[in-house]
Amino acid sequence: MCGIVGYTGCREAYPILIKGLHRLEYRGYDSAGVALLSENGNLNIYKAVGKVSNLEQQAAGHDCSGTIGIAHTRWATHGAPNERNAHPHISQSGALTMVHNGIIENAGVLRDQLRTRGFSFRSDTDTEVLLQLIEYTRQKHNLDLASSVRAALKKVIGAYAIAVIDKDTPDTIVVARKSSPLAIGVGEADSEFFIASDASPIAGYTNRIVYLKDEEVAVVRKDHELVITDLNAGRVDVQTKEVDLDLTMLDKGGFPHFMLKEIFDQPAVLRDCMRGRILPAHKRIVLSAVTEHREELIHAKRYLMVSCGTSWHAALIGKQLIEQFCRIPVEVAYASEFRYSDPVVGPGDVVFAISQSGETADTLSAVQMATERGAMVFGIVNAVGSSIARASDTGTYIHVGPEIGVASTKAFTGQTTVLAMLALAIGREKGTVNEEDYLAALDELGQIPDKISRILEKNDEIKALAQKYTDKKNFLYLGRGMNYPVALEGALKLKEISYIHAEGYPAAEMKHGPIALVDEDMPVVFLATHHNLYEKILSNMQEVAARKGRVLAIVSEGDTVVRGIAEHVIEVPHTANFLCPLVSVIPLQLLAYHIAVAKGLDVDQPRNLAKSVTVE
Ligand code: F6R
Repeated sequence: MCGIVGYTGCREAYPILIKGLHRLEYRGYDSAGVALLSENGNLNIYKAVGKVSNLEQQAAGHDCSGTIGIAHTRWATHGAPNERNAHPHISQSGALTMVHNGIIENAGVLRDQLRTRGFSFRSDTDTEVLLQLIEYTRQKHNLDLASSVRAALKKVIGAYAIAVIDKDTPDTIVVARKSSPLAIGVGEADSEFFIASDASPIAGYTNRIVYLKDEEVAVVRKDHELVITDLNAGRVDVQTKEVDLDLTMLDKGGFPHFMLKEIFDQPAVLRDCMRGRILPAHKRIVLSAVTEHREELIHAKRYLMVSCGTSWHAALIGKQLIEQFCRIPVEVAYASEFRYSDPVVGPGDVVFAISQSGETADTLSAVQMATERGAMVFGIVNAVGSSIARASDTGTYIHVGPEIGVASTKAFTGQTTVLAMLALAIGREKGTVNEEDYLAALDELGQIPDKISRILEKNDEIKALAQKYTDKKNFLYLGRGMNYPVALEGALKLKEISYIHAEGYPAAEMKHGPIALVDEDMPVVFLATHHNLYEKILSNMQEVAARKGRVLAIVSEGDTVVRGIAEHVIEVPHTANFLCPLVSVIPLQLLAYHIAVAKGLDVDQPRNLAKSVTVE
């Protein structure tokens, strides 16, 4: 999704803006641009299609001076990804320039109205429409920039995070947001300010961050106090948060891609995720949200889980974990469907919102709807201070560090780990898990990071295997029980980074249709670890092998039965049934990664995808 960076202060803005854009690259984008206001009042704007490095080449040798500027990475929504549509846009008079993340839904109507008032447009974007509306309002009513922004925003329907500069006020950036994230980093004594879509471009400059709320407008002026108002110009309290961002976590750490680094990060970050929550000395899981909301959680009528994509797969695992350990019925919904389904949800329900970024527009809307209808919202989020975290009544962070690769890996295992801890903690409070099973489960959970490390040692073996499958056009992934969501996740990983069509299915569903696809050219990945449905999956594997499907199986160490059926096997350590997704997903992440690399694809920023999906 689009990324915004801005700076006003005493330093040269250009290097800060470019570095910030690089840190937002993970969000996914198709063009980039920067606007700088130089000492002599010139507005210099550079844009390029493709990578931020193309933008740097474009700007090289030109005037990049100035201590105030805004910059943007664009993920096209209105209009093709080309230079004309790239941000920053400039107003008709040339006085204003703006970057925008979000979608203005009534842009068409507003564009027609502005045309009748003498405005013309250089781009196909909704952003330019909003900018011209701000300019029109400013000229017509002779308003200052902040007042014209507020007046214009009252007329728009949609989502926005914007940053606007006016040549007449050369030390000020006006920013605003609704449904799209925006953070303001506050420098020493308000001398300088950093603006960004999330805290990562601000890290290293200041850890004092203000997260704008919906329909707030901030006047960000160097050497001046930060002023925030609502759309009616009413002053709003400025709430500054201290956010610790580890800069080393933003580096590739010697790996060729963020995705591979993040796959290899998993043992360490899962230890971090459990640290302080699993207390080995006391043999207890302590989650503050469970302690604080014990009554609502154990007496809930039912739980609902809302999420998207990989986080939805984690929710499918969470459902099985909660139902097993807590005996509370759980429904899992795609957030995008939930929000438009007039859901039966209300007091007594607990809605779990699962999101890595904490900014996914559909999940955020589902949270808002659940809150309006009286349910308690429990966030399971990675990005600290993100919109979903703030909109939840309570929650548990997964604490796996920033995930930069667009394809989610460590967030999935982090979410699954938190869901397992949660199920055990609530189950124990509710009395639905006995002490012996609880202690055994705790012990197994504690061993997971070491078991993942052992699987990662097979990286070269999986890389060699991947070479055999790069020319394939289709894949099937099959699993049962706890491994069924892993089949879905394995298929999603493969399709999003290698562009190979892949489907995940519960293995027994094969014979109800998909088995028609199986022939000698169809790789079928079976999740056949030793778990409660192992025997069942063997029969499904036989059915595929009998039709000459090429079976590739993930098995538990020492399995000899599957070796006799499958063309290739990858062994993973034994673990308890409820934890098998945490081991069986690792080879699938590596397989997808190596197939995509062998095909020469951009693993960290696959085509058409965005890391943080802030539009619906
Ligand atoms: C897939 C992937 C996406 C996200 C989905 C939800 O690898 O990353 O499917 O899981 O867009 O994002 P979050 O978890 O940030 O709400």
